Amino acid sequence: MARACLEWQVEMGVDEAICDVPVNRYALQPAPPKPVPIPAAPSAPAIVGAPDPVSEAHVAAASATDLAALEAALAAYPHCDLRLGARNLVFSDGRPEARVMIIGEAPGREEDLQGKPFVGEAGQLLDRMFAAITMQRDHPNPGRALYITNILPWRPPQNRDPSAEERAMFRPFVLRHIELADPDLVVLMGRISSATLLETSEGITRIRGKWHELAGRPALPMLHPAYLLRNPAAKREAWADLLELQAKLRTLP
Ligand code: URA
Repeated sequence: MARACLEWQVEMGVDEAICDVPVNRYALQPAPPKPVPIPAAPSAPAIVGAPDPVSEAHVAAASATDLAALEAALAAYPHCDLRLGARNLVFSDGRPEARVMIIGEAPGREEDLQGKPFVGEAGQLLDRMFAAITMQRDHPNPGRALYITNILPWRPPQNRDPSAEERAMFRPFVLRHIELADPDLVVLMGRISSATLLETSEGITRIRGKWHELAGRPALPMLHPAYLLRNPAAKREAWADLLELQAKLRTLP
């Protein structure tokens, strides 16, 4: 019975316990009455000098002169509460010297646990996709290696979509990440990554497979492997995009 109950919870999407020790909520005291909120003074002036998270992100990212400094700047960036619920900051994996940099959306459960991007089920599919064009994360030849990161370095709870604010906060860090790694081209893996970095509202199925420019280099939006796991028929488009990527690499010096 207890096992069936647990299995049902897993089925419903519960994938972790929140506390180490169970709480007997029947034994808890009833919550004290809520204090009556004091209405704010009408048209209170904006707090002068209040930090603007996006401007601060620009300053922090610009001051990083190498990848280690950028990771440290992300770890020290105080404006995103996702860090409070995450286990690890997920910065990157693969080889920074790689000609191809892949940018995904945000860490999931496995990525949060291991501190590396794309190591769960979607990541395994991503590895198989690139293996099909003889590329892999740690390949000794930078022409066949991959460098991988995400828009968000922290896992959103229940793998919800990153909010517009979160995406805006981390965009300057990702753009700096591209500058510092300096790949020949960038793959924007999925809807969130493409929309955030290209600042477009066009859907991923429209823009995938077409070359854009990002941080002074070609960028290719592709369907996210998590989408491909749910829609296996779309692997045909993903394969076409991989061949397009391979052809582009041959044309670049
Ligand atoms: N999906 C992403 O976009 N990034 C990851 O790191 C894992 C899954």
